[in-house]
Amino acid sequence: MYAHYLILGDSLEVLPKLKITVDAVIVDPPYNTANKNTKELKGRKARSSDFGKWDYFSDNGYLEFTKNWVKSVKPILKESGNLLTFSKLEYVSDIRRIYEEEGFKHHGTIIWHKTNPAPQIRKTGFLSSCEAILWATKGFDGKKISYTFNFTTQKEMHNFIETPICMGNERTKHPTQKPKRLISHLVKLFSNKNDIILDCFAGSGTLAEAAEELKRRTINIENDKSFFQIMADRLKVANGNLFSQNNKILKITNEKDLTLIR
Ligand SMILES: C[S@@+](CC[C@H](N)C(=O)[O-])C[C@H]1O[C@@H](n2cnc3c(N)ncnc32)[C@H](O)[C@@H]1O
Repeated sequence: MYAHYLILGDSLEVLPKLKITVDAVIVDPPYNTANKNTKELKGRKARSSDFGKWDYFSDNGYLEFTKNWVKSVKPILKESGNLLTFSKLEYVSDIRRIYEEEGFKHHGTIIWHKTNPAPQIRKTGFLSSCEAILWATKGFDGKKISYTFNFTTQKEMHNFIETPICMGNERTKHPTQKPKRLISHLVKLFSNKNDIILDCFAGSGTLAEAAEELKRRTINIENDKSFFQIMADRLKVANGNLFSQNNKILKITNEKDLTLIR
């Protein structure tokens, strides 16, 4: 049983207050998908690309937000640590530039292909079936720093992974929940047993659940109360009665309790 900290709060405020370093940051931040293309028709549900207010940004706001959180995770990530960020394909070069401006070294980009994406009802464009995952490490100024990279087999180590979107019993009410199989794949490749992994846009807690199964520890930050509750319920359900065992899973809803994280 591994320690998981669930923090209710805004990452940009919480991250500077964390007095801990982590071995990996695996994050699925907002996508900036909802704002421009969403058509709100009277009396009808918004299009499926409208995930909620958390995914709305002003014109330059998204890249500024991305830069801010990348800057904030840098002091927390160990010198040998990995940073993995999910992104829409359109933002790959922007995120790569931000990585480099903030002193990260971009090593590669993995494509996640969804085998069952939302259909293109009007048939006027492609289905949105791919997301990118940008991999970077820290502290590269000519220094030779080793980082965790658990290469398995030539067959498995393509920069491409294919799974269905999250469905069935695994699915919670979170609108953009990632499949556990996808996150587990990243956890195995980019961290080791007992490592601490940070997810500062935790949503329904997929990373924490995958990490518990793979014997890693996590710090999870989510600012939406209902998503935070989904994550808390999910971990409890997945692992039995963990909340009662020695605070191994700790819900932190108060800033002063951040000091409890070890
Ligand atoms: C793409 S979703 C993550 C989904 C998650 N990977 C899962 O499997 O459930 C991004 C999440 O970030 C949260 N979020 C957005 N801005 C945030 C912020 N400033 N601080 C903390 N959480 C934030 C949203 O509420 C949303 O749940």
